[in-house]
Amino acid sequence: MDFQLTEEQIAVRDAARDFAKNVVAKTVLERDENQRFGEDEIRQLGELGFMGMMVDPKYGGSGMDTVSYVLAMEEISKVDAAISVTMSVNNSLVCWGLEKFGTEEQKMKYLVPLASGQKIGAFCLSEPEAGSDATSQRTMAVKDGDDYILNGTKNWITNGSSASTYIVIAQTKPELGHKGISAFIVERGMEGFVVGAKENKLGIRSSDTHTLLFTDCRVPAENMIGEEGFGFKFAMMILEGGRIGIASQALGIASGAFEASVEYAKTRTAFGKPICEHQAIAFKLADMATSIEAARLLCLQAAYLKDQHLPITKAGAMAKEFSSRVAMEVTVEAVQVHGGYGFVKEYHVERMMRDAKITQIYEGTSEIQKIVIGRSILK
Ligand code: CAA
Repeated sequence: MDFQLTEEQIAVRDAARDFAKNVVAKTVLERDENQRFGEDEIRQLGELGFMGMMVDPKYGGSGMDTVSYVLAMEEISKVDAAISVTMSVNNSLVCWGLEKFGTEEQKMKYLVPLASGQKIGAFCLSEPEAGSDATSQRTMAVKDGDDYILNGTKNWITNGSSASTYIVIAQTKPELGHKGISAFIVERGMEGFVVGAKENKLGIRSSDTHTLLFTDCRVPAENMIGEEGFGFKFAMMILEGGRIGIASQALGIASGAFEASVEYAKTRTAFGKPICEHQAIAFKLADMATSIEAARLLCLQAAYLKDQHLPITKAGAMAKEFSSRVAMEVTVEAVQVHGGYGFVKEYHVERMMRDAKITQIYEGTSEIQKIVIGRSILK
């Protein structure tokens, strides 16, 4: 295996690093405090080509590989996971699904503005009573002439109010179980579609997470992705790629907390020397660095497999389960290394600890990842 990055991959990583440091870092504390969506930061990310990184340039994307995506996700997430979740959902869940399974008309109409960063997308699967158990969702789409009429509620939708284009998964024939689920492209402004309450969250506070309500929302049949009944498999395939995005987000949160801890431990003195020279702290830094490196390798392996068009089911789930665990462990230790300063907002690590938790929950909980890994091993 080749562990060397190409010149292009290094350039992408460095561009993301510069952007995170020079732009995202300036507003991160204020946006977290006020739960303010980073509209300007996301617009600039789009201009840099980071919102449709892997999409073919003929559909407005940057035509990069998944390894570059992981590198960029890590760099942005080091500074702000609330910005990187919008980037991940747009890239992995929305653009990838449209490029792979959309019709040419759907790609020209919806993918081009999403991949070029002019518009933002959202992926709507979860419901008030259907998160992990995705087949038990209740949103209904009933055929009516050339349209489908959607009724139901979606919950925990990232980019809920900032998006213009929503991929909505709904039941078309509930009696068929997962084979009766379909996927639709719904536009902001379609009659009967309302963006509901915004969640007041523990972490990634500046990303906009909303409930969405569909009441007799008429969606043209031409907005269906794939055939009727394809929606569940479509969602599962999309989520496989999504896991790589969230795994690299978790990796970035851990790396950000680690870098802050090293810096702090070198400058803070106690008992007459920098605290990094006390074994109690040096061992913590060693454990953090080792876990982060292992997480990085899992993320890059999953990305590499995706780029080779090889199966990523197990590798993606392993990367997400492990990296999100590392993010949680490392950020808790980062707060400990910082002592009292870690508990206040100016030092960022308390925010990283709050942000880390969601990576063990969304786009498939850690328990779901273990189901996926277990099934892959045993099948
Ligand atoms: N690729 C292709 N097909 C797949 C697949 C995959 N990765 N995984 C499953 N399928 C297919 C199966 O082959 C099966 O089809 P057949 O009957 O034709 O063989 C069908 O889908 C049903 O599969 P299962 O029997 O395995 O389904 P299940 O009900 O046991 O569920 C699960 C499996 C893995 C637990 C799945 O429900 C799951 O992933 N749940 C988690 C959902 C999730 O991640 N939610 C997060 C919401 S999105 C989000 O958080 C976005 C955000 O805004 C950040």
